[in-house]
Amino acid sequence: VPVDPFELVVFGATGDLARRKLLPSLYHRYCDGQIPEDSRIIGASRTAMDREEFVKLVEESYLEFEDGSQHDPDCFKAFADMLDYVAIDIADDQADWDTLGGKLDATQSLIRIFYLAMPPRLFVDIAEGLQTAGLAHDESRVVLEKPLGNDFASADAINEGVGRVFDENRIYRIDHYLGKETVQNLLVLRFGNILLEPLWNSRAIEHIEITVAETIGVGGRGAYYDSSGALRDMVQNHLLQLLCLTTMEPPASIDADDLRTEKIKVLRALRPVTSSNVKDMTVRAQYVRGRIDGETAADYLSDVDVEESDTETFVAIHTEIQNWRWSGVPIYIRTGKRMAQRRSEIIIQFRPVPHSIFPSDTHIQPNRLVIRLQPDEAVTLWMEIKEPGAGGLRLKTLPLNLSYADSFAARYPDAYERLLLDVVRGNLSLFMRRDEVEAAWRWVDGIIDAWAETEQRLSLYPAGTDGPDAARFMLEQLGDQWSDPG
Ligand code: BG6
Repeated sequence: VPVDPFELVVFGATGDLARRKLLPSLYHRYCDGQIPEDSRIIGASRTAMDREEFVKLVEESYLEFEDGSQHDPDCFKAFADMLDYVAIDIADDQADWDTLGGKLDATQSLIRIFYLAMPPRLFVDIAEGLQTAGLAHDESRVVLEKPLGNDFASADAINEGVGRVFDENRIYRIDHYLGKETVQNLLVLRFGNILLEPLWNSRAIEHIEITVAETIGVGGRGAYYDSSGALRDMVQNHLLQLLCLTTMEPPASIDADDLRTEKIKVLRALRPVTSSNVKDMTVRAQYVRGRIDGETAADYLSDVDVEESDTETFVAIHTEIQNWRWSGVPIYIRTGKRMAQRRSEIIIQFRPVPHSIFPSDTHIQPNRLVIRLQPDEAVTLWMEIKEPGAGGLRLKTLPLNLSYADSFAARYPDAYERLLLDVVRGNLSLFMRRDEVEAAWRWVDGIIDAWAETEQRLSLYPAGTDGPDAARFMLEQLGDQWSDPG
């Protein structure tokens, strides 16, 4: 079903995110017939260029970042008719704001959206600029790209500043993980099936593991990444969102506030990391030179071109949710760049059966549910079955496998395709509420402070491995281990 016509201003339109994700996503949605032709997409950035140059940039970026097999030049031409561009210096040039205003629909009959794909320190200035120029009306929406600040205080300042211009229910804070098909499937898996819920607690679950491993390094984003690190870049948002969806109580409905209210309860129940437990609960590490897929991979310092850096590119955390459902269930999360393979997975490790009826030398492997988010999206439940044969009774662990590729032939839309149209539809369910972002920062700030207070040292790991030994030791001390790719 196509959305209503809209006008979307993308601030940061010549930047990496817009070229790699936002504009290609809009193009796909347009060619899929989801965006009405009277919509407008206006790129805004500091770079001086005209409309034609912008259209060319959009097409070239698309071909650079996507494999091109979906490219339909005729459709692109029609899509390009919706595109426009304005060079804007947000800092001081009122004339630029007026030019932008001149491109917007004076009758205000289109849904008006401002997408801020810019560094967060500019969010408040842009919101205020829009207000001063009279471009943000009561119904306008604003989309804030992550990172939303770099600690609680900066996030709070952004939320305050942007909140003076846009009401909370017009602010769409993006975490693109929530737009991923497999992440949304977590909700369906948990709340569309009756089988799991009775077992979804500390009585049946031994531990939960969330891994988001990447093989890529920091690309051209060295300056941003070096001031951020894996904890802020990945854990504060993506991993905590995955944790919330995995462990929250069943919401009353999928409506934004029902869902977000349950997620925030998880964030508030996370065991705080302090200087007295930080060494046992966290590992921070940075990659050094190694090999990935048979090729030499440089160390982090060369990648970001600095002499020295204390920034972590890997983090592993042992935490717990302090509530009735999860008390005593260890939760292990880890993420890193330049690891052995790209793999995002949530693993639910069930407890052993309470009593074995089989001969004492029979090993019964506890059940395990593996939710593979990417790549090779799948849900796999490892079960014990009898190995066929006349002699004795031997057990074997086999997967019940729900593979996306086997079940669905369709192309999965990129996360941004879904999220951008949700903004037009006014559906806030997959966006973060202010208190949610702030609760996530409070917990993460605790870790950052504890690292600083205890001067917790960086471990090192060679690029192309599963991370530092210290992460393995952290779990071994608890009698556990990280799962192999499953
Ligand atoms: C971004 C991070 O939010 O997510 C990047 O800033 C990271 O550092 C990326 O590479 C991972 O996203 P995906 O969709 O490729 O798993």
